[in-house]
Amino acid sequence: MSASPDRAATRVSVVPGGPLLVEGPVEVILPDGARRLSERPVVALCVCRRSRIYPFCDTSHRRRGRACRESDRDVGEG
Ligand code: FES
Repeated sequence: MSASPDRAATRVSVVPGGPLLVEGPVEVILPDGARRLSERPVVALCVCRRSRIYPFCDTSHRRRGRACRESDRDVGEG
């Protein structure tokens, strides 16, 4: 499948051990039909399912047995 001629492909970058970085804005449709919108130019989508703001990454993937600090929450929902 390729992008239509009038629209560039959306870039998605895989961060090893971390989120998917998607060029925004992004609208995510959850399994229950709920919609989450981020207007950020780059949106970090959680793939570890530990984020407290799922589907957006809150950097909880970085935790190794310590509580998530407020200062860690530098990416995600916009
Ligand atoms: S990928 Fe899940 S919190 Fe970052």
